[in-house]
Amino acid sequence: MKTTCIPVDINVDNDEVYSQAVDLLNRGEVVAFPTETVYGLGAVATNDEAVKKIFAAKGRPSDNPLIVHIGSIEEVSTYIEEIPDIALKCMELFWPGPLTIVMKAKKDILAPSVTVGLSTVGLRMPDHAIALKLLQTLKKPVAAPSANKSGKPSPTKAQHVEEDLQGIIPLILDGGSTGIGLESTVLDVTVNPPAILRPGGVTKEMLEELIGEVFQPSLIEQEQKETPKAPGMKYTHYAPNAPVYLIEKDKEIVKSAIKQLHQVGEKVALLAPSQYLDLSADYYFSFGDEGNIEEFGSKLYEDLRACDKTNATIILATTTSTEGVGAAIMNRLEKAAGRKWFTKDYANN
Ligand code: TXA
Ligand code: MG
Repeated sequence: MKTTCIPVDINVDNDEVYSQAVDLLNRGEVVAFPTETVYGLGAVATNDEAVKKIFAAKGRPSDNPLIVHIGSIEEVSTYIEEIPDIALKCMELFWPGPLTIVMKAKKDILAPSVTVGLSTVGLRMPDHAIALKLLQTLKKPVAAPSANKSGKPSPTKAQHVEEDLQGIIPLILDGGSTGIGLESTVLDVTVNPPAILRPGGVTKEMLEELIGEVFQPSLIEQEQKETPKAPGMKYTHYAPNAPVYLIEKDKEIVKSAIKQLHQVGEKVALLAPSQYLDLSADYYFSFGDEGNIEEFGSKLYEDLRACDKTNATIILATTTSTEGVGAAIMNRLEKAAGRKWFTKDYANN
């Protein structure tokens, strides 16, 4: 299959591009499009055959449900049995935006492959001009996971989608870099207190200010059986080819780690704030200024992907605080690293 990638400038008339995308979706095909978080790979959420093509293209495990994207708050009642008050409050404040709300789904409306047999569904209204225009022109719900091969970092540029899905999908709408760069917060409002199944741009702090107590499981709590979970969080994610090790954000510690790794013949890629430029890593990817956590989040996936284009044999990534968006960043970094930390006895392991 030939993959067409069309640049979409939101300042000009793109009606033809949208109608091409809408035609493909209506014919049961998949289309990649930008959102404010990451690029999504969409299909009409009521068409089971079409939704199955998403799983096939990504190599996604079939027990991992998809988020359904909608173009307005009014549409929620088409898919949801009873909309809890706290969900309404969240929609009013955070939609359009990087918040997916998991609620009890009406039966037999969405394609079975979207919910994979669960009684709930995650809905989100993305805050991106191209995504919204596509949804509002199509006038149908769009099931869309991140537009990467399963296990790879989510795409924050059309080029990343091409790298993973070239020849497998018919169309990519290229809207440039996505803003936030990390996937949406997934909030389950079917449990009490509501639980964050995946941290993202809408933080625990922001949610608690609006709806009171919210449960954000710690690493240990995430592993407990009774903790509410997103099925997708159990899979290895965001993994570059070389092993990733977390390391404390301390210049001296990082410097001596690099020296030690060089002694045993490793080629080191360092992912760290701009203040770490002068350390002698073989490859260096800056997260930006140490104080700018949003920039860190927006660059993380691109940097992880860039590591795959180097000859690095090991990747060191400095950590950050888990406050605010830091919780989402650390969640993704820990997954990329499989929770491995660099220690002084690395060479003996
Ligand atoms: O920012 C985003 O959310 C992006 C863009 C494209 O919208 N989408 C995205 O989708 O990240 P995906 O499929 O890569 O991640 C969806 C996550 C998975 O961990 C999945 O298990 C969880 O949400 N999820 C979906 N429906 C769920 C449900 N009913 N209950 C619990 N978790 C659910
Ligand atoms: Mg994903």
